[in-house]
Amino acid sequence: MKVSGTPYRTIWLSEDGCTVEIIDQTRLPHEFVIERLETLDDAARAIADMLVRGAPLIGSTAAYGMAVAMHGDATDAGLEKAYEVLYATRPTAVNLRWALDDLKGLLAPLDPDQREAAAYQRAAEIADEDVEICSSLGEHGSELIRDAYAKKGRKEPVNVLTHCNAGWLATVDWGTALAPIYKAHDAGIPVHVWVDETRPRNQGASLTCWELGQHGVPHTLIVDNVGGHLMQHGQVDLCITGTDRTAASGDVCNKIGTYLKALAAQDNGVPFYVALPGPTIDWTLSDGVRDIPIEQRDAKEVTEMTGRTKTGAIETVSIVAEGSGAANYAFDVTPARLVTGLITERGICPASAAGLQGLYPEKESVAV
Ligand code: MRU
Repeated sequence: MKVSGTPYRTIWLSEDGCTVEIIDQTRLPHEFVIERLETLDDAARAIADMLVRGAPLIGSTAAYGMAVAMHGDATDAGLEKAYEVLYATRPTAVNLRWALDDLKGLLAPLDPDQREAAAYQRAAEIADEDVEICSSLGEHGSELIRDAYAKKGRKEPVNVLTHCNAGWLATVDWGTALAPIYKAHDAGIPVHVWVDETRPRNQGASLTCWELGQHGVPHTLIVDNVGGHLMQHGQVDLCITGTDRTAASGDVCNKIGTYLKALAAQDNGVPFYVALPGPTIDWTLSDGVRDIPIEQRDAKEVTEMTGRTKTGAIETVSIVAEGSGAANYAFDVTPARLVTGLITERGICPASAAGLQGLYPEKESVAV
């Protein structure tokens, strides 16, 4: 995707061949800052403090984190430490475990002096694969937007509601939920996006609006409570969100508030689709509500807000009376029964164990 006309991915290897570069997403939309990850701790901090975020990008950063760790210490102890430090950063997105298991499985049998090169090569492959997967799921998902446009008599833009940021900033490129929108927009289908602000960290307001704007896609920011009202009044043709972990049963775990949008969508007969790359499926879980670990983050993300003042300064302010406690659940699970379909790189399937297994017959699913 492009930033002010220049093509970017969200993560790449710098010219020195060992430092990893990322876009610091905590500074967007006000500042475009590139950060350098030189050590294992840099990579772990970038994930935990959400300089990078979004399930697929967390996976890619973890893979590159293993590579920078091998650059520093490629012994067995160094490998074990890198796995553990990176694994502890964030609990919900299964892409983290997937990428770390992949790298560890590759590196452990190698001689220590072969590990660094192998890790950088595999991290680059994982990033490239993510771009291909997201592009492909975007193609499949854009058919839904094309169909919705035809259903509207090809007269009015298709209104899509999305939650959080599941765009190119959440992946290496293209995005998950936003990939179908970019593909449809690029194919000349008029599409307009309702963007949930997504409290408490406001990834919708800060990131989704910014990247849709960079790509020239018409969009409107709404507060998190508006979606149901819009659906009641025929203002939403379909919802598309991402997912950080999809159980083998088709339950999806995404940014807090996704479940409420799915409930409103069902009550109003609005199709609710979830876009996901294959590595976001956790084939070991059969019940997402019961089994997916839900991250709880610092209460300050709820009690404070950060923004740019009129003078251009970035400031954080408190929005609650001193002494009030706050809870910060970062994700919720939408049961498969509320999901119209899952958009994957292999096509669109029902949100069910059979639907997923049909698209990924080579996987061993606990749910069928
Ligand atoms: O806490 P975040 O910003 O990492 O959460 C991101 C999301 O919830 C996205 O919707 C999710 O990763 C979808 S996949 C691009």
